[in-house]
Amino acid sequence: MKHIMIYGASSAMAKQVAHLYAKRGDRLTLVARNAEKLETIKSDLETRYSAQVKTIVQEATDYDSHSTLFEDDLPDIFLIAHGILTDQDKAQSDNSYLLNQFHTNFFSQTSLLTHAANAFEKRGSGTLCVIGSVAGDRGRMSNYAYGSAKAGIEAFCDGLRHRLSKVNVGVVLIKPGFTDTPMTAHIQPKGALWAKPEKVAKDIVNAIEKNKPVKYTPGIWNYIMFIIRNIPRFIFHASRL
Ligand SMILES: NC(=O)c1ccc[n+]([C@@H]2O[C@H](COP(=O)([O-])OP(=O)(O)OC[C@H]3O[C@@H](n4cnc5c(N)ncnc54)[C@H](OP(=O)(O)O)[C@@H]3O)[C@@H](O)[C@H]2O)c1
Repeated sequence: MKHIMIYGASSAMAKQVAHLYAKRGDRLTLVARNAEKLETIKSDLETRYSAQVKTIVQEATDYDSHSTLFEDDLPDIFLIAHGILTDQDKAQSDNSYLLNQFHTNFFSQTSLLTHAANAFEKRGSGTLCVIGSVAGDRGRMSNYAYGSAKAGIEAFCDGLRHRLSKVNVGVVLIKPGFTDTPMTAHIQPKGALWAKPEKVAKDIVNAIEKNKPVKYTPGIWNYIMFIIRNIPRFIFHASRL
C-alpha cells in the first residue's frame, strides 16, 4: 500500500487518478481549496473502494501553508494537478490578472515542488509528478500567458530531476492535450483530438509507475507537438495558429 498525496484533488483529472489509486488499495491524502468538493470525493472513494482518505483544505497561493504538508506522514507519491486556463485577452489588458495567473499556474507549483523535493531528498525516495500541458511547448498568440507558465514548470522539473538524479526520487511531468474537463467546458465543439480525463488519469498512473520524465497524453501529442515545435518561425507566424 502506497501513500499518495494529490494537490488540486477536485480537478477532473485528479479525481480519476484518485479512483485508480483507491481501487488498488492505496492510501490517499487529498488537498484542494473547496472543502465541500473534497468531502464529496472522499465519501465517494470510501463508499466505492473502502479507501483510506484524508483531506486537507488549502488554497494554492497560500504559500505559508505549503510546508505543513510535508512535516509528517510524507507521501510516496505527490501529484500536483491544480491550474486555471488563462483568458489570453484579459491577460493582455489587465496586468494584475496576468500576474495572479502566474501565482496559480507557476509560482504555487514551484513552491510545493520545492518543499516536497527537499523532504523526499532527505528521505531518499518518492515520486513527484506535475500536470503541465502541451501548451508549454511553443508560445502561441492565443494562449501564451497560460503556455509560458506551463513551459516554466517544464524547465523547473528538468532542473529538479537533474538535482534529484543522484537520489532515488523521480520527477514526472505530464503533458495532456485537449481534455474534456470543467476547465475546457466552454470550448465547443470538441473534435477527435479531445481526450477523456479517465484516459489521461491512466497515463498519469502509468507514467508515475514507470518513472517517465515526460509523458504526453494521449500519445498522439508526441507527434503533433514534434511538428508544432519544428515549424519554422516564418511559417508559424503566417499561420496565426
Ligand atoms: N483540460 C485540459 O484540456 C488540459 C490540458 C492540458 C493541461 N491541463 C492541466 O491539467 C490540470 C488539471 O486540470 P483539469 O483539466 O482537470 O481542470 P479542472 O477540472 O477545472 O481542475 C482545475 C483544478 O484546479 C483547482 N484550482 C484552481 N485554482 C486553484 C487555487 N488557487 N488553489 C487551489 N486549487 C485551485 C480547481 O479547484 P476548484 O475545484 O476549487 O475550482 C480544480 O480542482 C491543470 O493543471 C491544467 O492546466 C488541462
